[in-house]
Amino acid sequence: MCQQISDTQKKKVLSCIQPSGMLTLGNYLGALKNWVSMQDEFDCTFAVADLHAITVRQEPSELRARIYSTYALLLALGIDPEKNILFIQSQVPEHTALSWILSCNTQFGEMSRMTQFKDKSAKHPENINVGLFSYPVLMAADILLYKPDLVPVGADQKQHLEIARDIAIRFNNKYGEVFTVPEAYIPKTGARVMSLQDPSKKMSKSDDNPNAWVAILDSRDDIIRKFKRAVTDSEACVRFSPEKPGISNLITIYSAVTGKSAEQVEREFDGKGYGDFKLAVGETVADALAPVKQRYDEIIKDKKALETLYREGAQKASKTASKTYFKAMKKVGFVI
Ligand code: TRP
Repeated sequence: MCQQISDTQKKKVLSCIQPSGMLTLGNYLGALKNWVSMQDEFDCTFAVADLHAITVRQEPSELRARIYSTYALLLALGIDPEKNILFIQSQVPEHTALSWILSCNTQFGEMSRMTQFKDKSAKHPENINVGLFSYPVLMAADILLYKPDLVPVGADQKQHLEIARDIAIRFNNKYGEVFTVPEAYIPKTGARVMSLQDPSKKMSKSDDNPNAWVAILDSRDDIIRKFKRAVTDSEACVRFSPEKPGISNLITIYSAVTGKSAEQVEREFDGKGYGDFKLAVGETVADALAPVKQRYDEIIKDKKALETLYREGAQKASKTASKTYFKAMKKVGFVI
C-alpha cells in the first residue's frame, strides 16, 4: 500500500534517443547513464525516436538494424522494461497524429528560429525536407502525449523543449487544459564529453575521424587505443583547466565513470605522465563498458524476446498516449 502511494507520487520523466547502432561514450555519460539512475526516483518513459531518424536519409535495412540495436542497448545498459515504459516511437501512431494537430497550432515563424534546423539544413543542402523543419513539433508530441513533469535534455535540445512548452501553454489556453507543461531536467551528474581528437568539439559519431569517439560497443582494444591517441598538451601535468581542454576532457570522463571528483583525479595522477593517465582512463572506460557489451551480445541474439519486449512497451505507451490524444482530438472539435 505504502509502495503504491509513493509510486503515484513519483514525478514523471520522458526522454527519447535517436536510433544509432553506434551510440557513443558521450551519449552514455551525458545522457544514458542518467536514464539508468533515474529509474528508481522517477516514473520513466523512454523511447527510441525512429521517426526522427528519417529526417535525414536512411538505408532502410540499416535503419531497422539500428532500431533493434538501440533498443537492445538500452536494455543492456540496465533500463528495466518492467519498471519503465520502453518503446519504439513509430509503433505508437499517436505521435504522428498529435504532431499534425500541434503543427496546425505552431507558427512557421517560431519554427524558423530553431538553430538545429538552420545548422542541419546548411549541412545537408541536398535534403532540406519538411520533416527536418517540423521535427520539433514531433518532439513536442513525443513529450506532451505522456504528460511528463521533467524532460532531461542536453544543451542541443533545450530550444526544442522550450518550443514544446510554448506549444503546450498555447494549446491549453486556447482549447482548455490537456497538456502538462514540462520542465527541463538537468541531472546532477551528466558529463559533456568532447572529441578525443579535437576537444573543442562535442564527441560525435558523425566525426570523420574514428579516433575522435568511442562507441559504447567498441572492443576493449579499440577503446584503449583511442584513449592512448587522445590529443593532450605539452605540459605533462594532469590538471583540470580551460587551458588544457584535452586533459580536462579525459578528467571529466574518468570522473564520470569512477565517481571521483576532478581534484581526486588530479591527486591520484600527481607526478604521473600522460601515458599512464591515458592508459588508466582507457582501461577504466573499457572495464565499465565490458559488461554492457556482454549483455548486449546476449540480448541482440534473441530477436523473439526483443520483439516481445518492444511490443509490450508499445502497448503500455499507447495506453497513456491514446488517452491524451483523444482528449486533444475532442478539444479541437473532432468527432470521436
Ligand atoms: N530530438 C532528440 C535528439 O535528437 C531526440 C528526441 C526525440 C527527444 N523526441 C524527444 C528527446 C522527446 C527528448 C524528448 O536527441
